[in-house]
Amino acid sequence: MSEVHIINHPMIQHKLTIMREKETGSKDFRELLKEISLLMGYEVTRDIPLEEVEIDTPICKMTAKKVSGRKLAIVPILRAGIGMVDGLLTLVPVAKVGHIGLYRNEETHTPVVYYCKLPEDIQQRLVIVTDPMLATGGSSCDAIQMLKERGCANIRLMCLVAAPEGIAKVQEAHPDVDIFVASVDDHLNSDAYIVPGLGDAGDRIFGTK
Ligand code: PRP
Ligand code: URA
Repeated sequence: MSEVHIINHPMIQHKLTIMREKETGSKDFRELLKEISLLMGYEVTRDIPLEEVEIDTPICKMTAKKVSGRKLAIVPILRAGIGMVDGLLTLVPVAKVGHIGLYRNEETHTPVVYYCKLPEDIQQRLVIVTDPMLATGGSSCDAIQMLKERGCANIRLMCLVAAPEGIAKVQEAHPDVDIFVASVDDHLNSDAYIVPGLGDAGDRIFGTK
């Protein structure tokens, strides 16, 4: 069974509260999501391996640590997952970025695929899938499945707010994929929105409603 990491650092919780407020506009919402993504990125990458390298400081030679060869890819689920990419790229500027386009059918709430463009060597990378909202879990499960079908064996899912239903679905379908979230909320409503949640993440990021 995969692990669920709830990243409840006070600064993340503070920023998330502002994002949840309905009066918060798109500019602030985007900036806060970027900041939280950077902070969450510390935890998502906490165990990536280091190697020792010989360097010269202005004072002397030393053996120091650098991130080793294992490379990273960030794969946002369009649209809202895009809002988490810049924060992660600030932390890991050399990461490659792929895109998976999925939207939820408004009646069935099941995901529909419309786009997939991934780095050529994605199979060799640690892949961080980003999506602020893990609601029913359908979108994340399908995105992870698409990555596995393309050979990815090392995948992590980074979300902002999750419903217990979505976590359970991802854990059942993908027991090898650890999930990182800032909050596990209460439940889904009849429209499959997270309660209390923060509304429609894509619309709030891009100002489409
Ligand atoms: C939202 C969200 C997730 C998905 C979560 O996207 O960004 O991708 O719903 O729901 P699920 O866990 O029940 O699948 P949406 O389909 O609204 O598309 P958008 O980002 O383009 O607005
Ligand atoms: N997608 C969102 O953007 N918000 C939800 O609460 C559920 C799905």
